[in-house]
Amino acid sequence: MARLRLKNVNKRWGSFVGVDNFDLDIADQEFLVLLGPSGCGKSTTMRMIAGLEDVTEGEILFDDTVVNDMDPKDRDISMVFQSYGLYPNLSVYENIRFPLRVRKIPKEKHDEMVMEAVRMTELEDYIHRRPAELSGGQRQRVALGRAIVRRPNIFLMDEPLSNLDAKLRVSTRAQIKNLQSKLKITTVYVTHDQIEAMTLADRVVVMNAGKIQQVGTPTDIYDNPANVFVASFIGSPAMNLVQGTLENGVFEAEGIRVEGLPLAVSGNVTLGFRAEDAEIVEGPAQISSPVYSIELLGEASMITWRLAGSLVSIKTHKEYRADIGAVVNAAVPASICHLFDTASGERIAHG
Ligand SMILES: Nc1ncnc2c1ncn2[C@@H]1O[C@H](COP(=O)(O)OP(=O)(O)O)[C@@H](O)[C@H]1O
Ligand SMILES: [Mg+2]
Repeated sequence: MARLRLKNVNKRWGSFVGVDNFDLDIADQEFLVLLGPSGCGKSTTMRMIAGLEDVTEGEILFDDTVVNDMDPKDRDISMVFQSYGLYPNLSVYENIRFPLRVRKIPKEKHDEMVMEAVRMTELEDYIHRRPAELSGGQRQRVALGRAIVRRPNIFLMDEPLSNLDAKLRVSTRAQIKNLQSKLKITTVYVTHDQIEAMTLADRVVVMNAGKIQQVGTPTDIYDNPANVFVASFIGSPAMNLVQGTLENGVFEAEGIRVEGLPLAVSGNVTLGFRAEDAEIVEGPAQISSPVYSIELLGEASMITWRLAGSLVSIKTHKEYRADIGAVVNAAVPASICHLFDTASGERIAHG
């Protein structure tokens, strides 16, 4: 059991800032996901927690102990990486047992501990095989089994599903979620995949260019993105964002006009709304513009317009059809809209 605290943690190489003032408390047993595009500092943050990378400035605490100068092997953590890092000459059983030997855990306990990890990762039928005789998903489960075998205080996972195909990623994701809830081990999980983050996390930390953009539950960051970056990173499709002007509670841009927004705000704003919150309608409406494309998604049809230079999409029922170029109207009431300051990108109000 461990709480984890990162106090104003910075990582610099020369003048390059990899992680910029990362400040966060992670609760005991929490499943925390670091989410952001490639190069935003996720792995560096995780490697500092593991002790594989020095902290330039700031403190990392496990419970109340500062661990900045503690050796990685003394931190009682387990890590799982994208590359499974298995020993090719050892069987599944011996791979999972390895940490117990390294940590000099009494031999008579090994079999019970290994077999418990084998059961939890559903590898009973493969314990005598070598890694080369396993599928990618099975190999990743061996890596997971090896990480959980000695019940560490903290579990660190860096893009563990990236090498798996789409279907296997979904089932392994569910298995990780299930394992973590059974084991109740504080977990920090790194991914660039927003769906993985949304489905696994108790809380998500969205990062960009070394900086925390927002911390919140998946629902928080989906429903109330703190800025344009988060709005454009979360959701599939991401939130629609249109730049325009706001005056006397009316937002206007080419092809779209929304009334009833906050009166106190004016100037250059970016209006945001989600594809599933707006609706195709027959009569006059906030959007009235020629259709740019229509995509059949199976469970829905997606209609896209080009408004003020931005592509804007709405999901509608699966039987809906429209011709490209035909004018289609859509209701985008103020109540579903998000407003961002165009210059700073920061959220200003929820209409
Ligand atoms: N040893 C290093 N020296 C200099 N720059 C590095 C080093 N390691 C990582 N970086 C840089 O720090 C940034 C963050 O890297 P990383 O944490 O690996 O990103 P992520 O895991 O989010 O993709 C990147 O721009 C990367 O090039
Ligand atoms: Mg990385």
